[in-house]
Amino acid sequence: MDNRAIGIFDSGVGGLTVLKALLQELPREHYIYLGDTARLPYGTKSRETIIRYALQCTEKLMEYELKMLIVACNTVSSVALPAIKEKYPHIQIVGVVEPGAEAACKSTKNNHIAVLGTESTIKGKAYDKAILAINPHAVITGKACPLFVGMAEEGILEGHLAEEMAKHYLKDILRQEHIPDTIVLGCTHFPLLKNAIQNVIGKNINLVDSAQTTAKKVCSLLDGTAAACTSPSGSIHFLTTDDIAKFKAVGEPFLGFSLDSSHVELVDL
Ligand code: DGL
Repeated sequence: MDNRAIGIFDSGVGGLTVLKALLQELPREHYIYLGDTARLPYGTKSRETIIRYALQCTEKLMEYELKMLIVACNTVSSVALPAIKEKYPHIQIVGVVEPGAEAACKSTKNNHIAVLGTESTIKGKAYDKAILAINPHAVITGKACPLFVGMAEEGILEGHLAEEMAKHYLKDILRQEHIPDTIVLGCTHFPLLKNAIQNVIGKNINLVDSAQTTAKKVCSLLDGTAAACTSPSGSIHFLTTDDIAKFKAVGEPFLGFSLDSSHVELVDL
């Protein structure tokens, strides 16, 4: 048994959707969550910048005694995972792309899969590679939906505006000759817009949320190594690089419970 903490980071509060799923699967673990809110969004930045930011986030989390690092950001997982793994070979590192790709391959019946993500995630084609490694017959359409990030942060999650934006981003995918039966929410911000997206695509297309699938993967990894935590109740320590009050206010809908009484520490990277 291993009572060390699990480190998680994202460019901002999006990774809290992964933490929320982890809390459901593994409530007794100790978590340290870092949101680099000062530098969000990562998704529009260059590869070099994303790698530099990702290594700085990792370095900060490595100040704690960790048993595992979860990269709860699709952009970082797509672009910087090899660089993080190379610099920190001693710790188990889990990204969100592979679990999302596995779930998409399980879900599809017609082999047509769409991936929604940030510009960098779509450009980096990490989902395409991960999906094709499992299912070489898959046909993948990527679509960058950068404005979904701001909408999720602003709390524009349902209703006319959210659905119009979803229609705008999805119109080409829904007009394809072979319409995908599976759409991957390849950004940790996007699960908040799930209802709006589902209303636009209808019930016949399955949405894959990589937050859920990542939590399940972490669960199985900890089971496999018997490294789960034995403490009677878990804990969460939050770190942010910008305004604490804003982190709490914007983070709440992502996490699904109030952060009022949670301790959030301001850190510099
Ligand atoms: N949460 C990030 C992701 O999963 C997107 C937000 C950003 O652009 O920084 O890709």
